[in-house]
Amino acid sequence: MDIENLELESKIKQLEKSVRILQKKLERSKADRINLEKASELKESLLKSVIREFEESQVVLEKRTVELETALKNLKSLQVKLIESEKMSALGVLVAGVAHEINNPVNFIYGNLEHVSNYFQEILNLLNLYRHYYPTPVIAIQKQIKKIELDYIIKDSQNIFDSMNMGVERIQQIVKSLRTFSRLDEAEFKVVDIHPGIDSTLLILNNRLKPSARFHQGVKVILEYGDLPKLECYPGQLNQVFMNILVNAIDALEDAGHLLMPMIRISTEVLITKSAGCATKTGWVVVRIADNGVGISETVQSQLFNPFFTTKDVGKGTGLGLSISYQIITELHKGKLECYSTPGNGAEFVITIPIRQDVK
Ligand SMILES: Nc1ncnc2c1ncn2[C@@H]1O[C@H](COP(=O)(O)OP(=O)(O)O)[C@@H](O)[C@H]1O
Ligand SMILES: [Mg+2]
Repeated sequence: MDIENLELESKIKQLEKSVRILQKKLERSKADRINLEKASELKESLLKSVIREFEESQVVLEKRTVELETALKNLKSLQVKLIESEKMSALGVLVAGVAHEINNPVNFIYGNLEHVSNYFQEILNLLNLYRHYYPTPVIAIQKQIKKIELDYIIKDSQNIFDSMNMGVERIQQIVKSLRTFSRLDEAEFKVVDIHPGIDSTLLILNNRLKPSARFHQGVKVILEYGDLPKLECYPGQLNQVFMNILVNAIDALEDAGHLLMPMIRISTEVLITKSAGCATKTGWVVVRIADNGVGISETVQSQLFNPFFTTKDVGKGTGLGLSISYQIITELHKGKLECYSTPGNGAEFVITIPIRQDVK
């Protein structure tokens, strides 16, 4: 019995021991679980903060990209302005200088031509007098008259004087145009009639408009000038815009190949608004420059005014003409520059500018 008791007791003790061990294990696993939970919480919060930081840096990155894109755009437009203002002021100075230098000798020729013509007329009168009183000169003089074809010389001389006069007047006109075109008055607004500006630009481009191998009849230029008041503007810059648009129009006519009648139409008018059947003049002027050249596709139209956009060959196009014109019209003159075109049917550029800069 005692032995049985003893065995029982030892079993109980063993059992108690294993219970204690189990309890300890349980406690340890509890602690482990808590630790594990804590660790996973830590990991989760760490992960969350990493994700948050990532998201934040993504936002920063996007902002940076936008900033960089804007900076690049600004840089490009600044570069365009720089190139163009350098080029324009250099060209302006050159043109004004050449015009000035040519002006003096031309005036000299023009003034003297009249004297020479008068002198010649006097000598002719004298000759006629001689012929009247000495109708039959000596043989040697008769021979000389025949040799030099005196009657022809007299008749042709008048033609020569006339064409010399025309030539000199044309040079004077060109010199005046060059001066009008290159007006070096960039610093301030002037109140001017813009029609002479358009005329002088056309005269400078005459070489590309007159009859040639490309344009057998020349380019027909139709001018429809309205009754415009003087505009407050930068005339030199405005002429530059006319020049850029007209050069593009001529290029487009050339690209169209042998057109039956290559044409450029320039019209000007004061913008009219109509309300309730009543037409009123606004404070705006519209200049339309249209050609019947190749026209402009929609894809090209959407990029027309972008700096450096060109469809022309390297060396022919810079892609700056229209972007500069756009800046001159919209920024400098607070106006609008628009383009309308149906491919294959020519293009029209419409400039709308205020007559006075304070009118809105
Ligand atoms: N009147 C026009 N007809 C057809 N295309 C034109 C006309 N004017 C401009 N364009 C198009 O717009 C582009 C940009 O013109 P522009 O800025 O003056 O640069 P560039 O003449 O040096 O190419 C031209 O390359 C041409 O494709
Ligand atoms: Mg151009």
